[in-house]
Amino acid sequence: MYKRKDGYYKKAKHEGFRSRAAYKLSEINNKYRIIKKGDKVLDAGCAPGGWSQAAISIVGDKGLVVGIDILDISPIEAKNFYFIKGNLLDKETLKKSAEICKEYDTVISDAAPNTTGNKLTDHVNSLELVSTVFNFAKEVLKPEGNFLFKLFDGEDREDFIKQLRTSFKKVKIIRPDATRKNSFEIYVVCQGFKK
Ligand SMILES: C[S@@+](CC[C@H](N)C(=O)[O-])C[C@H]1O[C@@H](n2cnc3c(N)ncnc32)[C@H](O)[C@@H]1O
Repeated sequence: MYKRKDGYYKKAKHEGFRSRAAYKLSEINNKYRIIKKGDKVLDAGCAPGGWSQAAISIVGDKGLVVGIDILDISPIEAKNFYFIKGNLLDKETLKKSAEICKEYDTVISDAAPNTTGNKLTDHVNSLELVSTVFNFAKEVLKPEGNFLFKLFDGEDREDFIKQLRTSFKKVKIIRPDATRKNSFEIYVVCQGFKK
């Protein structure tokens, strides 16, 4: 069983991050460099804000982070952070992020639907969410931009990966160390957007 207060959870609290998820992003970024200083980043499904915090610290003062979630977050004190409250499946929500910034260097999405206990349903819901974010990412990503997302793994993954390969030069499936061992979530890193 998953123990909520595991090592990464305690480390996150100690270091001022809102969630253990912040380490997944740092871990992935250390390896793939999908976010750099000065970048503009869209964080889809950002609550409680760990990835946004980690992204803000990477992009620095000259960068920008826009976070979206259906849930509220407690304010993040950074001049270059904007929060949009809304449902990602509602077109208006994503459009608002394009009003703040027309072109992003990187889109990250840790968005996850509520799990039902049925792996197929969870996979299908997760894919619907991430496909919506992907379609939007194609509109707002800069050429050579990056896209990182979480997916509840399942049988339609391969078809989706094929679609991603038509839009990005490199697509890689990863399972970061900060992911719980028995989880069926995977992360996919897409680099080099072909606009
Ligand atoms: C695992 S959490 C993200 C954690 C975050 N990366 C962090 O580091 O704090 C997944 C988030 O996706 C959000 N989410 C799920 N479905 C959504 C939807 N349709 N629209 C907006 N947000 C959604 C949830 O509300 C939840 O906050």
